[in-house]
Parts: sequence; C-alpha cells; structure tokens
Amino acid sequence: MKAITVIPGRPDSSSLRDIVEPQLAAEDRRSVKVKVLRVGLDGTDKEINAGEYGAPPPGSDYLILGHEGFGVVTEVGDDVTELVPGDFVVCIVRQPGGSIYDQIGTPDFTTDDTYHEHGINLVHGFLTEYYVEDASRLVLVPGGLAEIGVLLEPTTVVEKGINQAYEIQRRLKVWEPRRAAVLGAGTVGLLATMVLRLRGLDVTVAALDEAPYLNSELVESLGARYVSTRHTSLQQAAESHGPFDLIFEATGFSPLAFEAMGVLGRNGVLVLASVTGGDRTVEVPADALNLGFVLGNKVMVGTVNASRRDFESGVADLAAVEARWPGWAGRLLTHRVDGLTGCPRAFELLGAAGVIKVFVQVADLPRQVATPSGP
Ligand code: BGC
Ligand code: ZN
Repeated sequence: MKAITVIPGRPDSSSLRDIVEPQLAAEDRRSVKVKVLRVGLDGTDKEINAGEYGAPPPGSDYLILGHEGFGVVTEVGDDVTELVPGDFVVCIVRQPGGSIYDQIGTPDFTTDDTYHEHGINLVHGFLTEYYVEDASRLVLVPGGLAEIGVLLEPTTVVEKGINQAYEIQRRLKVWEPRRAAVLGAGTVGLLATMVLRLRGLDVTVAALDEAPYLNSELVESLGARYVSTRHTSLQQAAESHGPFDLIFEATGFSPLAFEAMGVLGRNGVLVLASVTGGDRTVEVPADALNLGFVLGNKVMVGTVNASRRDFESGVADLAAVEARWPGWAGRLLTHRVDGLTGCPRAFELLGAAGVIKVFVQVADLPRQVATPSGP
C-alpha cells in the first residue's frame, strides 16, 4: 500500500512510498484495523515537511505524516466489543508515555520529556491506506457526522483548552462567563468560536484580515462578532465588547499572548493555544500586566493536544453545531485534494489565501445506509 512519508529534519522530503499493509495478528486481541478515508493537514504538517519538527519511529528513517485522520473500521480483534466493522473512527493523536498523567488516561498532560504523537513525533501517522491501532485509542464518530469527521482532531485541541478553562474556573464557585474573545480566525479560532457560541457566550473574534471574507462570514453566521485588528485594537475591542471572562489565543503570534493578558477581565481565564516555534522577543508593560493579574485574580493557562474526554466533547459539539447551524462546519473544509498522490498540492495550499482546512481524500466515504424512517 502507499503512504506519504517524510525524512524528519530534511526540508521538503515528503514523498509517496510503498509500505507493507499492516495486518491484525491473532494475538492482537484489542487491535482494530482502520481504512483511512480523509486526513486533514495543518501548520504542524507544514513544519514537519519543512524539516523543522518531528521525529521518525525508533528503527525507521522515515515518518508517515498526518495526525488529523478519519477512517472506517474494517476488522477488529477478538476482545474488541466497542467497535465493529463499518464504524467511523478518529484516532487519538498522543500515545501514553510513562508519567502518572499518562497512566490515568491523560497523555496530553504528560510530564515526560518525549511524547509520542501519530504523524508528528516517534509514531507513524495516517496519510496511508490502512493502520492498526488499539481500540482504547479510537473514538467512534456517528455516521451522520462522516462529512465533517475530519474536523474532529482540530476540534479536540479547542475542546481541551475550553474544558480546562471551565475546570479551572470552578475555583470561583459561581462562574458564569458571559463574554469571550477569540484571537485568530483560522481553523482553530473558528472552532473555538463554535464551541464558545454553543456554550452560549457572546463572542468577539479579533483577527488581522478585513471583513467581509469567508472567515468573517463564518464567525457572523454563528452570531459572533468579527473585528479586524487593522481598524480596532484589542484594547478598543475590550472596551466595546468586554470585559472578557475568557480569551482563547489562537493566532500563532506570541506577542498577542501579552496583549491578551492586558485586556482579560477580572476573574478571567486566558487560554494560550498557539504552538510558536520561533525565538521572538518583545518588551511588555510588566508592572501593569502583573498588577492586573494580581488585583484581578486572573488565570493564564497553556494547552496542547487532547484526551479522550475532549474527543468525546468534540463529537458532541460537532453534532450540536450540525443541529443548530446545519452545514456550518462543512464550510470550513474549503480545499479537498484527491488521493495520496495529491499531497504536494495540499502542501502548496496550506496557509494560502482563502484556505481554511485542506484535506486529502484518501478513499471515498462509504455510501450511508439509509435509515428507515419512522411509521
Ligand atoms: C496537533 C496536536 C499536537 C500538537 C503538538 C498539533 O498540530 O493538533 O495534537 O499535540 O500539534 O505536536
Ligand atoms: Zn494539528
């Protein structure tokens, strides 16, 4: 079978390679074989392909790329009771390591120095035809969400950040967040807007580009507000639409973390989700930011990856958005590339104007079995 692989550390090394198709062995009683249908790409894949990030599995000189997988179960081991062939699944990206957090089912909180992530670090990814994985690391996606199932992994990154924010704010006993700001209107910013709107918050999204364009329209169709930071500073946005009880930072531009600190409301929580690999430095109003945090009892939290609980709340929120704003999530899937051979094109599209989510259609989605309608 075919796979898209890279030689981590070597720029532009992605290529189509023949590899051996994995099989379920009789002793793999909890294993599941999955046929890959779609794989989304994001900035992490771009960095790995640029040779800036990523590592191959031990003993391999290449890494199969792709961590935003969506597939269908084709075979299950004898002890698998929770999945059957034909079920749609998404695989949890990070595998458990050795720390206590890994042992309690939250490898996203690992304190190990090395972490194992499909398609990113030390474990092969999903840009291939089939993979075999332990049933405990697969999440069931209802058939009705098949068209948007490839959005689940990026959704889980947002779910984790927001679930953590709510968990932290239990400190306040009576926290009732009313206003939120999302910084950035890329895939993660849009999904954060979706999750916060589903939780009933008034959401202001601040991003660079001027409205109207697809992303600002997507924001507004959820009943959220879009402001371009070319015309409105974060400070002005906070004066008009704040105070912000929750801010979700997803711009990929680290100086904004400090600007966000400056506009967070009292008792508020700031969630930082941008993976910034550079070495940028900035000067900040340190006394004022510190004072605001101290006198305002504020919290700032970093978030990466996601646990099973976040995958499950992600499935629930994708179902909820389909019910409340039908078709909204599908509009994020702006660019589809057909077949693993289309990968070079997918890389060109990443980050281009007008692109929200690029995905590779590895195999056609099975036709939905029509559910018989009621009497
Ligand atoms: C992925 C996360 C991962 C992170 C760091 C992101 O692109 O969506 O699952 O933990 O990169 O490698
Ligand atoms: Zn990602």
